[in-house]
Amino acid sequence: MGGTGSSYHEPVLATESVAMLVRGSGLYLDGTLGGGGHSLAILCELERSGLLEGSLLLGIDQDDEALQEAGVRLADYREHAVAIKGNFRNIAALTQREAASRGMEPKAAGILLDLGVSSHQLDVPVRGFSYMQPGPLDMRMDSGMEDTAADILNSAPEAELASIFFRYGEEPRSRAIARAVVARRVEGGPLQTTDELADAVRSVVFGRERVMKALSRVFQALRIAVNRELEVLERVLADGAELLRPGGRMAVISYHSLEDRMVKRFFSSLTTADWGPKGVGLREPLRPAAAIAVTKKPVRAGAEEVARNPRARSAKLRVIETMGGGK
Ligand SMILES: C[S@@+](CC[C@H](N)C(=O)[O-])C[C@H]1O[C@@H](n2cnc3c(N)ncnc32)[C@H](O)[C@@H]1O
Repeated sequence: MGGTGSSYHEPVLATESVAMLVRGSGLYLDGTLGGGGHSLAILCELERSGLLEGSLLLGIDQDDEALQEAGVRLADYREHAVAIKGNFRNIAALTQREAASRGMEPKAAGILLDLGVSSHQLDVPVRGFSYMQPGPLDMRMDSGMEDTAADILNSAPEAELASIFFRYGEEPRSRAIARAVVARRVEGGPLQTTDELADAVRSVVFGRERVMKALSRVFQALRIAVNRELEVLERVLADGAELLRPGGRMAVISYHSLEDRMVKRFFSSLTTADWGPKGVGLREPLRPAAAIAVTKKPVRAGAEEVARNPRARSAKLRVIETMGGGK
């Protein structure tokens, strides 16, 4: 999908996700607007297919810098695109409000979620997302949120820290790392910087490769805890499915196994009919399937995209379509 990338963020699986998402004119929701790369690709595809008239794209992001960047990139489509500040856990209320103000039905033809953080968020040291750069331990996607990563690291009991590192990072040395963080804050005062957290990890994990993996898992775990990423993902999946019109599609791109597992389970619950307990022999299911799987297996980025954009390496795209669209 030429021309939709930028130095802010190169959209991942843009060609594949947009080709599967765009079906007719209508309301499109991008719950993770970021730099607007996917949104721009959706709008270009709508225009190319003669579907732009009667279409509106609502882009949601909780990060002010993302909204600013996307505003500039989508300027040519300003009549068909709106950027809204908000958390996608409120996708239902935000969509109803925006659709009502334009006299539209709050029913979506397509919903895209491209989870996690953008390259820009990772690249800017002051946001504190990356262990590769010294910066304050912030990690809030929405800088209006109360608790930073430092707040959690400096106030949570050791057992809670270990649980965060284990549940959200699947880090095998979670207990030892939590102990090292607590020892560090008792001896040296509150942890303030990404370097201080990295040093705590390095004090109990050894070997270059192991250290790199542990750092990546611990930083991921903290980011998930700060932004309550799994909690809000569960909510947006459920509310997003309700917002789809018959034949509407939801495409989700995830970057780690915790997210992908949630998406896979939720999509499977939508695409599987409930026939009750085995052996009852019902003629009709208790609950019919609400959707079909458009992707039987997750779509992965090809070698060429991964070479151009290493971030695409871990991406998995899953798409469903709600029943009743007709073929
Ligand atoms: C991977 S980036 C999306 C990049 C975008 N697809 C593009 O092409 O530029 C994820 C974006 O989603 C935003 N985000 C993550 N979780 C969010 C949430 N719960 N509510 C709103 N925005 C969220 C982040 O701030 C970030 O800008």
